[in-house]
Amino acid sequence: MSSRPCLFVVLAAGKGTRMKSSLPKVLHKIAGQSMIAHLLTTASEVGGDIAVVVAPDGDAVAAEATRIVPDAKIFVQASQRGTADAVLAAKPALEQHGGADVVVLFADTPLVRPEVLARLRAALDAGSRIAVLGFNPKDPTGYGRLLRSGDGALIGIREEKDATAAEKKIGLCNSGVMAFRVPDLTGLLSRIGDANAKGEYYLTDSVAVGGEMGVRATVVECRADDVLGINTREQLAEAEAIWQARARSEMMRNGVTMIAPETVWLSFDTQIASDVTIEPNVIFGPGVTVEEGAQILGFCHVERSIIGKGVRLGPFARLRPGARLGENAHIGNFVEVKNTTVGVGAKANHLSYLGDGDVGAGANIGAGTIFCNYDGFNKEKTEIGEGAFVGSNTSLVAPVKVGKDAYIGSGSVITKDVSPGALALSRSAQEERPGWADKFRIMMTRRKAAQKNKS
Ligand code: UD1
Ligand code: CA
Repeated sequence: MSSRPCLFVVLAAGKGTRMKSSLPKVLHKIAGQSMIAHLLTTASEVGGDIAVVVAPDGDAVAAEATRIVPDAKIFVQASQRGTADAVLAAKPALEQHGGADVVVLFADTPLVRPEVLARLRAALDAGSRIAVLGFNPKDPTGYGRLLRSGDGALIGIREEKDATAAEKKIGLCNSGVMAFRVPDLTGLLSRIGDANAKGEYYLTDSVAVGGEMGVRATVVECRADDVLGINTREQLAEAEAIWQARARSEMMRNGVTMIAPETVWLSFDTQIASDVTIEPNVIFGPGVTVEEGAQILGFCHVERSIIGKGVRLGPFARLRPGARLGENAHIGNFVEVKNTTVGVGAKANHLSYLGDGDVGAGANIGAGTIFCNYDGFNKEKTEIGEGAFVGSNTSLVAPVKVGKDAYIGSGSVITKDVSPGALALSRSAQEERPGWADKFRIMMTRRKAAQKNKS
């Protein structure tokens, strides 16, 4: 590890026009979290002070940055005149960190891993004064190309728009991630001009300018998936796929079984313990914790929920915010649970809605049970006591309590509290008319025959 402190300068002032969106580019999400939040989480894992450069209308971006790193310093780039100009906007931070390494990151390049940043800084320790993270993308179109001398030293970076046909054939590209010593960078920035196709101040020109001043640059190569730059929605989807693949692999390494990992979608904060099995086609929204040994069967959709030890969920179950499933509970097909605690070993196996409730340990909720929690104005609570048995097709009109070990007859509409151990029934009494069905059939057969004869 380097002995010098580190300042990260995160550039997020670009317009992101290629996204065709009213949302700033760096607030678009990967795995349920904004690009810039992913990047800032990585930077704070590595450790160092963080400066973020935003556009004059970048309040939302600044707010997102300080949500993730409360003491990040925000700088405004008055007009978008290029990446070197953007770094200059953070000059006060550079001045405060005279003895530090500075790593420039692009908020639209959020997948870089901490170990890759550590390798980049190690190049400075090894004597380089500028270290550029380079990679070989499948398609280099749009990226700056890294120009090297015969002995492999980095001598320049050429933007696509300024490149000759020969330079465009170079496969090694600039990721945009660059590391400098602060005093070097300050000197280089003051010498960068805007004589290029876009008329912008390019940070990439620091390499050629450095060459003239005897400031040596090197390339540190990394995998393309670490430095995918996101300019379009297609690249956003590519980044999502990369992130998902990484997260699934990490989970499997930590003891989670996924039968078809490529069909399981995780969020940035999904927590899954060991010996959990996840069947195909499961979607985790944000805020989900799954405890040891739970089984999540196919086609479940879950968010902001806790799935306890040994729970069996699904297939086709939906957990909405605030579902808390106790140990060994069973929530089966076409059951929706929202803001409800389900006790240890309780079961709701078929076609039910449990909203704003509390289900005691060992209770059994029959098929088609509905917690009628909403009257169009207020949400009310349904409480089911331990060991209670709720018959199929019951409507529980909240607020209502069903006592411990009580029994509810199928098809009931329960509007009043039920005492512990009692049977509650609310449905019309059944009547029976002996022989009625036979007589009915004979009558109808005759009538049909008469109609046929007429026509
Ligand atoms: C940039 C690099 C290119 C590299 C590619 C990697 C330059 C000149 N080009 O091109 O060599 O291959 O990234 O993805 O550096 N930004 C500002 N203010 C500005 C301009 C840009 O803050 O005035 C920010 C953007 O928000 C973005 C980053 O800088 O986070 C890069 O800008 P972008 O316009 O996306 O550059 P690319 O054309 O992708
Ligand atoms: Ca870019």
